[in-house]
Amino acid sequence: MGEDSPTDYVVIHEFLRGIYESLTVGEAFRRGLIDELLDAPLPASEPDHLLRFFLSVLEANGVVEQRDGHYALTERFGEALRFRHLMEAQIKYSTMLVRDLAFDTSAVFALGEVAEHAIHEPATETSPDGPIGDEYLRLYQFDLHDSENPWDQAATEAWVDYMNTLSRYEAPVVCSKYDFSAHRRMLDIGGNTGQFACTVCEHAPDLHAAVFDLPGVVAIGRRTLAGRPGFDRVEYVGGDAFADELPRGCDLVTFKSTLHDWPDDKAAELLEAAWSALEPGGTLLVFERSRVDLKDYQPVPFSLLTLLGWAWTLRGPERYEAVLRRLGAEDLQLEEFHLDLPWMVLTATKPAG
Ligand SMILES: C[S@@+](CC[C@H](N)C(=O)[O-])C[C@H]1O[C@@H](n2cnc3c(N)ncnc32)[C@H](O)[C@@H]1O
Repeated sequence: MGEDSPTDYVVIHEFLRGIYESLTVGEAFRRGLIDELLDAPLPASEPDHLLRFFLSVLEANGVVEQRDGHYALTERFGEALRFRHLMEAQIKYSTMLVRDLAFDTSAVFALGEVAEHAIHEPATETSPDGPIGDEYLRLYQFDLHDSENPWDQAATEAWVDYMNTLSRYEAPVVCSKYDFSAHRRMLDIGGNTGQFACTVCEHAPDLHAAVFDLPGVVAIGRRTLAGRPGFDRVEYVGGDAFADELPRGCDLVTFKSTLHDWPDDKAAELLEAAWSALEPGGTLLVFERSRVDLKDYQPVPFSLLTLLGWAWTLRGPERYEAVLRRLGAEDLQLEEFHLDLPWMVLTATKPAG
């Protein structure tokens, strides 16, 4: 057995390529079959023809195999099971996006409705626009700023939960690549629940962090991450990074998966605000997915739907490097690597006075 690596979690994608296969894995979790097979292999003579067919789908997908007259989990799926939480979350959120696509492809692509083909879902008590939260993703429909509206609040909670789950696995990767203990106080802009900041504080025992995000989002983070390692050194600050003053006194400012969402001028605005807030001699760090060519991901795997559905937002490091150079950044360092998709860690130093 080799050493564990923070990038090991990408193994989950091997079992979540096709929709049919992935939903079958989800069903195997839901009905407790995975847990039963973890407890004991199933004698091959036991299942009726329906369960045997279900098992054959899992077998074709490499989840189970027949060994010594029994169905058992494969060794490789056993490795993926270490990241079960992520696997189940990815199945959940990709399924929500598949429902969005099936229900209203025009809305997902923001192309406007083609009236004669529109399918209308029955109104519910919770919203005239359909059920809240965990069936549809509907990123195109809810407003992160509006936490007064229960539909927006539920949709925000679901989206924040997904971001938080991704960050739980992604944050340790940057901790293995960058020495955060060289800093005293970090500011994470668009820091969501604070999962990244807490992970960094866990790795750097003397570091304190401020998480800056929209007020409704930091409220969810403060509530859901309380008690997690590192949490006691994380301060939550609610606000709008485009309009409000950012916390000062930080020798490290970070953006994790936050800049790519914005067009060039807005991303530059965020970098400029971060640069002003950063102490002289401090470091700005960008940890983001990088540009992809969809031709390299054909057909789009089920587990990458939620990420590649926004592939057009992902940009290469040049757009950040150009702004940082203009701001007078020194010592730009770039590392590019592949996880679920291409990623980058870009750091730049602000001249010391
Ligand atoms: C794609 S998410 C990434 C979240 C987090 N950094 C992570 O990697 O899990 C972008 C984050 O930016 C936040 N955000 C959006 N608009 C913002 C604004 N105007 N000011 C501050 N944060 C904002 C969102 O609430 C969200 O948490």
